[in-house]
Amino acid sequence: MTRRHLLFATPQLIYLVSTIFPLSGFCVDVLQFVNPLIGSTNGGNVFAGATRPYALAKPVADVDGQNTGGFATDGSRITGFSATHDSGTGGNPSLGNFPLFPQLCPESDVNSCNFLIGERATHYLEDSVVARPGYFEVELDSGIKGAMTSSDHAALYKFEFPARDDQLHPLVLLDLTDLWKSRQNASISVDPESGQVKGNGTFLPSFGPGSYVMHFCVDFFGGHILDNGVWKPEAEEIPNPLSDFDGLVADAEDAWREKLSPISVDAGGASEELQTSFWSGVYRTMISPQNYTDENPFWNSGIPYFDSFYCIWDSFRVQHPLLTILDPHAQIQMVNSLLDIYKHEGWLPDCHMSLSNGWTQGGSNADVVLVDAYVKNITGIDWELALEAIIQDAEVEPLEWAYHGRGGLRSWKDLQYIPYLDFDPVGFGTNSRSISRTLEYAYNDYCLATLAQGLGREDLYDKYVLRSANWQYLWKPDQRSSIEGNDTGFAGFMEPKYQNGTWGYQDPIACSALASFCSLTTNPSETFEASIWQYQFLVPQSMSVLIGLMGSEEPFIQRLDFFHTSGLADISNEPVFSTVYLYHYAGRPGLSTKRLHTYIPSAFNTSHGGLPGNDDSGSMGAFVVFGMIGLFPVAGQDVYLISAPFFREVNITSPLTGKTTQIKTVGFDANYENIYIQNVTVNGKPWTKSWISHSLFNEGWTMELVLGNKESEWGTKLEDRPPSWGEAIV
Ligand SMILES: *[C@@H]1O[C@H](CO)[C@@H](O)[C@H](O)[C@H]1NC(C)=O
Ligand SMILES: *[C@@H]1O[C@H](CO)[C@@H](O)[C@H](O)[C@H]1NC(C)=O
Ligand SMILES: *[C@@H]1O[C@H](CO)[C@@H](O)[C@H](O)[C@H]1NC(C)=O
Ligand SMILES: *[C@@H]1O[C@H](CO)[C@@H](O)[C@H](O)[C@H]1NC(C)=O
Ligand SMILES: *[C@@H]1O[C@H](CO)[C@@H](O)[C@H](O)[C@H]1NC(C)=O
Ligand SMILES: *[C@@H]1O[C@H](CO)[C@@H](O)[C@H](O)[C@H]1NC(C)=O
Ligand SMILES: *[C@@H]1O[C@H](CO)[C@@H](O)[C@H](O)[C@H]1NC(C)=O
Ligand SMILES: *[C@@H]1O[C@H](CO)[C@@H](O)[C@H](O)[C@H]1NC(C)=O
Ligand SMILES: *[C@@H]1O[C@H](CO)[C@@H](O)[C@H](O)[C@H]1NC(C)=O
Repeated sequence: MTRRHLLFATPQLIYLVSTIFPLSGFCVDVLQFVNPLIGSTNGGNVFAGATRPYALAKPVADVDGQNTGGFATDGSRITGFSATHDSGTGGNPSLGNFPLFPQLCPESDVNSCNFLIGERATHYLEDSVVARPGYFEVELDSGIKGAMTSSDHAALYKFEFPARDDQLHPLVLLDLTDLWKSRQNASISVDPESGQVKGNGTFLPSFGPGSYVMHFCVDFFGGHILDNGVWKPEAEEIPNPLSDFDGLVADAEDAWREKLSPISVDAGGASEELQTSFWSGVYRTMISPQNYTDENPFWNSGIPYFDSFYCIWDSFRVQHPLLTILDPHAQIQMVNSLLDIYKHEGWLPDCHMSLSNGWTQGGSNADVVLVDAYVKNITGIDWELALEAIIQDAEVEPLEWAYHGRGGLRSWKDLQYIPYLDFDPVGFGTNSRSISRTLEYAYNDYCLATLAQGLGREDLYDKYVLRSANWQYLWKPDQRSSIEGNDTGFAGFMEPKYQNGTWGYQDPIACSALASFCSLTTNPSETFEASIWQYQFLVPQSMSVLIGLMGSEEPFIQRLDFFHTSGLADISNEPVFSTVYLYHYAGRPGLSTKRLHTYIPSAFNTSHGGLPGNDDSGSMGAFVVFGMIGLFPVAGQDVYLISAPFFREVNITSPLTGKTTQIKTVGFDANYENIYIQNVTVNGKPWTKSWISHSLFNEGWTMELVLGNKESEWGTKLEDRPPSWGEAIV
C-alpha cells in the first residue's frame, strides 16, 4: 500500500496538522519587502513556502516542473502539498516527503478519484499564489484552495473546497513518496475513528550516499470523517488547529521580524525593487541550514544539531559570513553542530542533508567556516577541537573522500599539488578537479595556518602556510587562451600537471558558459563547475602574488575586465562572487563597485526568475545583501572589502553585543552615478585602507563614506590594499 485516502462527510474546510520527526529604527515593517517568490523559476530553486527561521517544517505546494525546492512559478502543475524542503539546491529534488493531495471525485466515488501523480497533477491559478514569511496560499484549477503556515516542526494546512450543489465529499490522499520518488520502503496506518494517519518511510538523500528514515503523523480537523470518528490529539506544537492558524502566521511573522531586526536601512531614494531584493536576500539566508535539534536519531549530545548544510562549497563564501553578522547565536550553534558531526561521524562534512553526507565538491571547506568564525572572535566554540578536526582534513585521507575530507593527500604532501590522473590507492573519490582541488586545498591549508597561529602553534603555522602556496605549482607561465581561434591576449594560466611533472592540458575556457558545463558527473574535468578562467582568480590568501604572475596591476585589471565582459564569468555560481571585488587588490576599489552594478539588478532582481542560478541556501541572497551594504567578506580572513553601498545609510546592531554599527554615506545618489568612494572615516578618523576588520561589527564602529562620480585616490596605495601573503615561488 503506497497511498492512503480519507473521505470526509463535511465539505468546505478541512485543517490538517502534519508533524514531522526525522528526523527598528524607521518604523517600517520590513516584511513588506520580503518576496519569497524571487528565484521561484529560472533555476533559483528557492523554497517559496511557509517557514520560520531555520525550521524543519516547510510546507508548500509541490509541482511537477522545477520542483527541487517544492514549488515553482514555471507553469507546471501541483502534485501535492508536503512539509519538508531544502532551499536553492540544484540536482535532484530534495525531501517533499508524504505529500497530501485534496480533491473532489465525481459522485464521491473513491474509484473515480485520481491517485497517480500524473493523473492528479493540477494547474493552479497564477494570480492566486500568496507567498509571505510564514504563509503560503494557492488555488488549484479544481477550485480547491490550500493555505498553509507552520511552527518549527509542524505544518498546518487549511484546505477550502468549493461549495457545490452536489455536496461532494472531499477526499484527501496521502502519498508515501517524496519529490524525487526515492522511497525504499514505508509503512502507514490510519485510525478509522479520528482519521489520524501515521507512518514512516525510508528515502534517499538528494546529493549523497546512504538513506534516511522520516516519520509523519497527520491529524484532521474541521471536517468529520465519513466514518464519524472522534479526534484525539497528540502532544503537538499546534494545540488548537481550528483557531491557531492566524496566530501561527503572526508568530512566524514575528520570528522573521526579529531575525531581520538587526538591520535598519535608510534607502535614500533607492527603489523598492532594490529594497525587496535586499530584504528577500536576508530572509533566504535563514531558511537553511535547518535546526533538527532533538530530531537526530543517531546521537543526542545536548548540542544543537543542524542539517541541510547544502553545500558548504557554496555557503562558506558569503552565507555563513552574513549569519556571523546578523545571527551570531545561530552561527555559533551551526559551528558547534559541525564540530559535533565531526565528533560523531569522524569528519567535518562538506555537504550534509537529510541526516546524510553529501558529495564533496572540492576542498574541505568546513575548515573555512570554522576559521572565519575564529578570526571574527565568535565565542563559545572549542577551538582546540576545531584545530584537531581541520588538521585531520589536512593530514588524513579518508577511505571515502567522495563525501568528506580530501583525496590525493599523498600527492598533496609529496608533489605539492593534486596531479592530473592522480594515482591514489588510499581512498575513493571522483578522480578529477585536480586544478580546483589544488586551489581549494591550498586555501584550506591557509585557514588552518591562521587558526594554528591564533592558538599559539607557530610550528603548525609555518608548515601549513607553506602548503598554502601550492597553487603556484599549477601556474603555467606560457599558457595562452583562445576563443574561437582568437587569442585573448593573456599569457599564463593554471593547467593540470601529471605526477611526473609533465603538463597536461585543459582549454582555459572549458567548463565556462562559452563551452559546456562540468560537474562531478556531467563532463568531469580538472575544474569543478567553472573554467580555468574562473579558478585562476581564486587565491584569496595571496592575491598580490597572483597579480605579479599575471604581470602587474594593469594586465591583471585587463584580465578581470575581459573575464567579466566576454561571457567567461558565470554569475550564476558561487566561485564568481569574489572576482567582482578583486580590483581592490590591484589598488582600484572603485572598479569593484562599478563591476557590481553591472550585475545588480540585471542578474539579481525581484522577478520570479530574478536569480541567475541556484540560490544555494541563500548564497545568492547573501551576495546581494553584502553588495548593497558595501562590504564583501573574504571568508576565512578578518577582512571585508569596502565598496559603495546601495543605500544612504545602514545600521546593524549585533544581537551578541547590542552594539550598533553605522555605515553612512555623504553624497549618496540613488541613480548610482556617485558610486566611487572619495574618502572614508571610521569613528570620525580618516580610514585609508580599502578593507576593514570585523571589529567594525564587534565594536559597533561608525564608518562614513564620501561618494563621488569619479574614481579617487582612496584605497589605491600599496599599503592600503587588502592583506596578501607570500611571494612567487615558481
Ligand atoms: C528499507 O530500506 C532501507 C534502504 O534501502 C534498507 O536499508 C532497509 O533494510 C529497508 N527496511 C525494510 C524493513 O525493508
Ligand atoms: C515504521 O512503522 C512500522 C509500523 O509501525 C514499524 O514497524 C517500523 O519499525 C517503523 N520503521 C522505523 C524505521 O521506525
Ligand atoms: C542609525 O543609528 C543612529 C544612531 O542611533 C541613528 O541616528 C540613525 O538614524 C540610524 N540610522 C538608521 C538607518 O537606522
Ligand atoms: C535550535 O533548536 C533548539 C531546540 O529547540 C534551540 O535550543 C536552539 O536555540 C535553536 N537554534 C536556533 C538558532 O534557533
Ligand atoms: C575573431 O577575430 C576575427 C578577426 O578579427 C573577428 O572577425 C571575429 O569576430 C573574432 N571572433 C571572436 C569570437 O571574437
Ligand atoms: C608523464 O606522464 C604522462 C601521462 O602518463 C605522459 O604522457 C608523459 O609522456 C610523461 N612524461 C614524461 C617526461 O615521462
Ligand atoms: C532579472 O534577473 C534574471 C536572472 O539573472 C535575468 O535573467 C533578467 O534579465 C533580469 N531582469 C531584468 C529586468 O534585469
Ligand atoms: C579626503 O581626505 C583627505 C584628508 O584625510 C583630504 O586631504 C582630501 O581632500 C579628501 N578628499 C576628498 C575628495 O574629500
Ligand atoms: C579579537 O580579539 C583579539 C584579542 O582581544 C583582538 O586583538 C582582535 O582585534 C579581535 N578581533 C575582532 C574581529 O574582534
